[in-house]
Amino acid sequence: MQDLIKEITAVFGPSGSEEKIREVIKNKISDYVDEVETDKLGNLIAYKKGNGQGKRIMLAAHMDQIGLLVTHIDDDGFLRFTNIGGVKPHRLIGQRFIFADGTVGTVGVEKVDEEKDIKLDKLYLDIGASSKDEATKRARIGDSVVYYPQFNLSGNRIISSYLDDRIGCIVLIKVLEELKESPHDIYFVFTVQEEVGLRGARTAAYKIEPDLAIAVDVTATGDTPKAPTMAVSLGDGAAIKIKDSASITHPMIKELLISTAEKYNIKYQLEVLERGGTDAGSIHLTKGGIPSGTVSIPTRYIHSPAEMADLGDVEESIRLLTKLLEEEIE
Ligand code: CO
Ligand code: ZN
Repeated sequence: MQDLIKEITAVFGPSGSEEKIREVIKNKISDYVDEVETDKLGNLIAYKKGNGQGKRIMLAAHMDQIGLLVTHIDDDGFLRFTNIGGVKPHRLIGQRFIFADGTVGTVGVEKVDEEKDIKLDKLYLDIGASSKDEATKRARIGDSVVYYPQFNLSGNRIISSYLDDRIGCIVLIKVLEELKESPHDIYFVFTVQEEVGLRGARTAAYKIEPDLAIAVDVTATGDTPKAPTMAVSLGDGAAIKIKDSASITHPMIKELLISTAEKYNIKYQLEVLERGGTDAGSIHLTKGGIPSGTVSIPTRYIHSPAEMADLGDVEESIRLLTKLLEEEIE
């Protein structure tokens, strides 16, 4: 699985530019599904047929990454940018970023009096060009960049850029590989544009109109020095979300996840995330309402280039979803 994580987290795909990662995932899953299509917004929807007795279930993990988008190129060849999704300005300084074509740059900062003055408009991307002419040969307005891929394994923990939410994509891929028989018609959806407002999941849910839906995404933890109080820790198992700022898990889904975990001795923890959301936030508000929930992979340093998750938690999340899908649902 480490190799798969290393491969998938390194594929370019910021919100709105998910073409490459979609192809990679499509190739990994096509042997395991009955149908696969790309919808009009770019979501990859893979369908696995049930036996006609079960429910219509949607699983969602987002393919897109946070990043930066070029807004201006100055006469000296420096690039200014805006954010794609939630980036913290002071965390960008000194980081390497990569364009779709492999061009690499690093982020520098103008002279500021105090650290708190570091806003996006004080930062620039330096791609090593010495003039506007040279820069425009390598970058255009509207181009986007993502953190230069970095992956390490430290004990049982992965340190990587873009565990959010490529680790969720990997959970879905693994569930597909491991799922033997299921009574349910299952839609494995790899969504676009989650990081800019849970957008792809909305149209996918509308089209699929599932009986129930489960998003798979990362969640924050409370287990680091003086972290905000939160009862989620790395290594304590799959996190079953109760609430975040975009959704409250439907009671039926909550019970289904908890009872499945209990029945199969799957390590789990209950999660309340005070800020943040997942694709479930837009899915559950679709059409007449869709009972939805989220299985989360506990992750430290979310949206930094060095996110950290525990391999055991990933395994437990895969088991939880696989077992849930194998059984009848009342
Ligand atoms: Co995110
Ligand atoms: Zn995410």
